[in-house]
Amino acid sequence: MTEPLVLGIETSCDETGIGIVRGHTLLADAVASSVDEHARFGGVVPEVASRAHLEAMIPTVQRALDTAGVALSDVDAIAVTAGPGLAGALLVGVAAAKAYALAAGKPLYGVNHLAAHVAVDSLEHGPLPEPAVALLVSGGHSSLLRVDSLAHGVTPLGATIDDAAGEAFDKVARLLGLPFPGGLPIDNAAREGKITIQFPRGLTGPRDQREHRFDFSFSGLKTAVARWVEARERSGEPVPMNDVAASFQEAVCDVLTRKAIDACASQGIETLVIGGGVAANSRLRAMAVERAAAKGIEVRVPRPKLCTDNGAMVAALGCHLVAAGVEPSRLDLPADSAMPI
Ligand code: KG4
Ligand code: ZN
Repeated sequence: MTEPLVLGIETSCDETGIGIVRGHTLLADAVASSVDEHARFGGVVPEVASRAHLEAMIPTVQRALDTAGVALSDVDAIAVTAGPGLAGALLVGVAAAKAYALAAGKPLYGVNHLAAHVAVDSLEHGPLPEPAVALLVSGGHSSLLRVDSLAHGVTPLGATIDDAAGEAFDKVARLLGLPFPGGLPIDNAAREGKITIQFPRGLTGPRDQREHRFDFSFSGLKTAVARWVEARERSGEPVPMNDVAASFQEAVCDVLTRKAIDACASQGIETLVIGGGVAANSRLRAMAVERAAAKGIEVRVPRPKLCTDNGAMVAALGCHLVAAGVEPSRLDLPADSAMPI
């Protein structure tokens, strides 16, 4: 087969993402987000997200096909995020993918959202050298993975034991009065601030090094920021918002990059790929590249738009599976909100 042409559908959270990819070439990346509808709640409301996916699905698929200049009958397969994610939101994407696959007589591939965050990098930097270590940091996940084969062998090395990194950004943004989702506003505020406060680095003590070497914890950091801000407010002094943002961001990025590079070193792996919404963070990108270079490790991070949830990542993984000769999913493919990697 020439390079496979795959349409990817992503609905695990609040973005309806439709991507069209041929081999490693991105042809369309259409995203309809319901993020504004969730902003006033300070987090994603599952029912609102599911309804928004339903409304956005058909027009977004059409938009992607038009942009790519292909018809549904041209694609070789339909790929869809089958998990993990919000159950109702996933169901909309999986049902739509089955309908398109059945109507067009195309094979269906249910894919893992986390593996798709890793696969998307190939659209920018070409095939991922395997084995690689992947750092996945989003609003729902913070994981370190060993990727022996994107198609067959991804092994978890560690994960957050409480909040995800993106969740910490969102919660700290909220307490600083910044809008949801808070990652980009904190990133921007931090550029204007200085690292003046030494916030805690979760799970980096000597005992954690044995028991939680590749795990993360961000809830203590979030509480430390809240306490610091409260104390400041009690004292009547103004809260130096930009400095708090910069110091908080530094603590998150320090731990993420330290553990990711340690994972590469311990596994004897020279490629680190970073994905998920938090990978859009400018400080994380710069720190990872700088620290990895010192150890001879190559860092791959896709451009910010491909880091946050999108359909291109699902299509990219779908292409990889088709090219690797992986069997398609059955048409009774279930959505699995807690799908393991
Ligand atoms: O991967 P994603 O779009 O959705 C999930 O699967 O969760 O990630 C969304 C998360 C949010 O928590 C958002 O605040 C965070 O990614 N994020 C960022 C940045 N841009 C988005 N976090 C830090 N810095 C950014 N520039
Ligand atoms: Zn995601």
